[in-house]
Amino acid sequence: MRTVLITGASRGIGLATAKKFLENDWRVIGTYLNTQIPIQHDNLVDIQYDQSSSESVKNLAEKVKEIAPKLNALINNAGILLDAEDKITDPVKVRKTLEVNLVGIIDITERLLSIFEKDSHIVNLSSGYGVISKPELIEDDECAAGYRISKAALNMYTRHLAFRVKDKGIIVSALAPGWVKTDMGYKVATEIEGPDRTPEQAADDIFILVSTVKETGQFWRLGSKSDW
Ligand SMILES: NC(=O)c1ccc[n+]([C@@H]2O[C@H](COP(=O)([O-])OP(=O)(O)OC[C@H]3O[C@@H](n4cnc5c(N)ncnc54)[C@H](OP(=O)(O)O)[C@@H]3O)[C@@H](O)[C@H]2O)c1
Repeated sequence: MRTVLITGASRGIGLATAKKFLENDWRVIGTYLNTQIPIQHDNLVDIQYDQSSSESVKNLAEKVKEIAPKLNALINNAGILLDAEDKITDPVKVRKTLEVNLVGIIDITERLLSIFEKDSHIVNLSSGYGVISKPELIEDDECAAGYRISKAALNMYTRHLAFRVKDKGIIVSALAPGWVKTDMGYKVATEIEGPDRTPEQAADDIFILVSTVKETGQFWRLGSKSDW
C-alpha cells in the first residue's frame, strides 16, 4: 500500500486531500495542530504537529519513519495567513509566517528525504499570492506581504529541491489551489468577491498531480503549468 504524509489534514484542503487519498486506497499519515482530524479510517494515522517548532518537526519525522519506512508522497499543505488585510509589513508576523510556511516545510522535507521511493512526489502548497512574474503592479498586491514572501520562497525551494533529487527519481512540484472555500480562503473574501473553488476540487488537483505528473520542478495552477 502506498503511503502519503499530509500536513494540516484537520480541515480545509488538507482534510479533503486526506479523504481523496483514503478513497483511493492509500495509507494516510495526517497531521493536525489544534483541531483533531474529524474522520476515522483503518488506513489513517493522525499525529499532532506544530510546523513552527523544530522539536515537533523532529518528532514527526521519527514517527513517520517508524510507521512507514518508505514514503510515496508528501503533501506540504499546512500553512498560515496572518497578514491578510495588512498594508504594512509587520516583521513579527513575517517571522512567524516564514517559520510555518517555509522553514518548517524545509525541515520536515529534508528529514524525510532518505525514505522517498523512486517516482514519489513532494507537493508544496503554494499560492497565486506567491507569483512575482506579473508584469504590472495591481491593487491586489498591497496586502499580505509575509504570506506572499513565504509562498514565493517556497516556490524557490521547490525548484531547488527538484534539481537536487531529480536523479533519485523524486518529483517535486509547487501547486496553487486557486481560491478555495476554507477558513483561510474566506479571510480574504470581500462583500462582493469570495472563494470559488471547493476543498474537494483542490484535493482532486493534488491527487491528479501525484498520480499522473512525472515532470519535476514545475508550478501547477488549475491543472496547467504556470509562470512562477
Ligand atoms: N484557501 C485558499 O484559497 C488557498 C489559496 C492558495 C493557497 N492555499 C494554501 O493551501 C494550504 C491549505 O490552506 P487551507 O485554506 O486549507 O487552510 P486552513 O483551512 O486555514 O487549514 C490550515 C491547516 O494547517 C494547519 N496548521 C496551521 N498552523 C499550523 C502549524 N503551525 N503547524 C502545523 N499545522 C498547522 C491547521 O491545523 P489546525 O486545524 O489543527 O489548526 C489546518 O489543518 C495552505 O498552505 C495555504 O497557504 C490556500
